[in-house]
Formats: sequence, structure tokens, C-alpha cells
Amino acid sequence: MRGAPVVATTRGDLDAALAAGRAKGRSVGLVPTMGALHDGHLALVERARQLADLVVVSIFVNPTQFGAGEDLDRYPRTFDSDLEQLAQVGVDVVFHPAVAEMYPDGADGPGVTVDPGPLGAELEGVVRPTHFRGVLTVVAKLFGLVRPDVAVFGEKDYQQLVLIKQMARTLCLPVVVEGCPTVREVDGLALSSRNRYLDGPQRQLAVALSRALDAGADAGPSGTVAVLEAARKTLGEVDGVDVDYLTLRAPDLSDPVPGREARLLVAARVGSTRLIDNVAVSLGAEEDS
Ligand code: PAF
Repeated sequence: MRGAPVVATTRGDLDAALAAGRAKGRSVGLVPTMGALHDGHLALVERARQLADLVVVSIFVNPTQFGAGEDLDRYPRTFDSDLEQLAQVGVDVVFHPAVAEMYPDGADGPGVTVDPGPLGAELEGVVRPTHFRGVLTVVAKLFGLVRPDVAVFGEKDYQQLVLIKQMARTLCLPVVVEGCPTVREVDGLALSSRNRYLDGPQRQLAVALSRALDAGADAGPSGTVAVLEAARKTLGEVDGVDVDYLTLRAPDLSDPVPGREARLLVAARVGSTRLIDNVAVSLGAEEDS
């Protein structure tokens, strides 16, 4: 146990909280979050603790990654219970800035942003065209403020993880971006802060996403078409799950290659809640006939 974390709300607080550790050459791990923490986030913290001497968790509901009509206003804000959970697992600093600290010129004012490139317009980007620009911009700011040696993100938001890795590589950012496996409920539903929007019956339906992904992954040795057919069949058996996309890609989200690892990704609406999930798939060497 590291004791209660220091809560920093400004760049000055953050620098002061990390100064002594940095002077001793301690490495810094960052876990960026929007709060509403669950066991998936705590697994990211655990990974960061393994990889770095000091752990910073940021809690910031980033307005620029929400599109018009999305859930920015109703996004759960549970700072007190987040802090309690973080104190229990042991982190050094919680960075909880105000919007003005992160966006001194205003969140919707003119300014420099990070362009996610073509991948930002695919998959999630089709329905959320400005989402990844907002994510990459805030993550770049967090990297600049915290200056972590390593930053840990969940594989649950797989496209986000791939884009953040691409950003770090392309912009030569001195940080190692580490992915962490998705944490699931016992029945397979991927943990997400948005699961709390689901009512009882919707929660039952939501498990169809992970079941479809499992069915697809099981069909991996039979090839791409079999994977997609198996996953589609499982989803098709459930009324009330409105699929946005179901797609098989290579791990970097380019086209999948037979005989290699691939990633099966799904997005669907259950009621008004949009859920995403993905799994690794080992593809058989033969093309489907
Ligand atoms: O995954 C999230 O919670 C957010 O997209 C992130 C990475 C914290 C940026 O706001």
C-alpha cells in the first residue's frame, strides 16, 4: 500500500508531486481514465505498477472526444469513489484537472489538435467522426503534462489503443504505450463505464457481443469467412442488439492475413447504449474456399 494518493489539479501540483521521485530517477507510469472506475481500470493500474516506480492516474472527462448528441453531460462522474478505489490499490498521484487546465483556450476554441489519419475515420470513426481527434489530442496533452515513461490503455478500446500507439511512434513521443487485456464479467460482458446505462433486460442482451466474438474466435482455424459467419449467426439470434459493425482485421487494423493473428471487432447498440468489444483470433493458414 502506498497510502492515499496526492490529488493534483494543475500542472504545478503535478510537477510538485512527481519532483522528488523524478530527482531520484524513478520511472513514471500513467493510466489515463475518464473516471467511473471499475475493475478494468484497476487492472490497468496494476499493470502500471508492474512497469513503473510511480503511478499517476488521470481522471478527466474529455469534452472534445464526445460528439454532438453523445453522453458528455450524463457521463458518470464518481470522483470520491474513484479516489477510494485508487487509494486501495495504491497509486501515487491522481491528476484531476478542470477543463480550463487542459484547454486554456476553451475546449471548442481554435487550436492545434492531433489528426488521427485515415484509421480515425474507420470503425468507430464512421459514427463518431471527431472522436479520435479528441482522444489523441487529450492523450498528447496528458503525455506532455505527466511525461510518463510508460502509459497503459485497455484493449477494450482497441482502435483507440492502436491509434495511440501510432501517435507515439509517428510523433516520436518518448513513451512506451502498453495494452492491457479486457476485464470481463463472469458471463463475458466486457467491463465498461457505460454498462451502468443498461437496465436488467438490456444487460442480458449485451452479453451477445462477447458470445459472438467467442464464436468467431472459435472458428478462427477455418478462416476469415467462417469467423464472420459464426459471429454474425450468434448476433443474429438476438433481437434488440443493433449491430453497427462486425469486422475482422489484422492486429494493426489493416486487412487480416490467413495464418496470422487477427482481431475481431464489434460495435452494437442495446437500447440507446452503444457498446464495443473485440477479441484476438488465430486465423487458419488456408484462405476460405
Ligand atoms: O479510454 C478512455 O477512458 C479515454 O478515451 C481516454 C484515453 C482517457 C482519453 O480521454
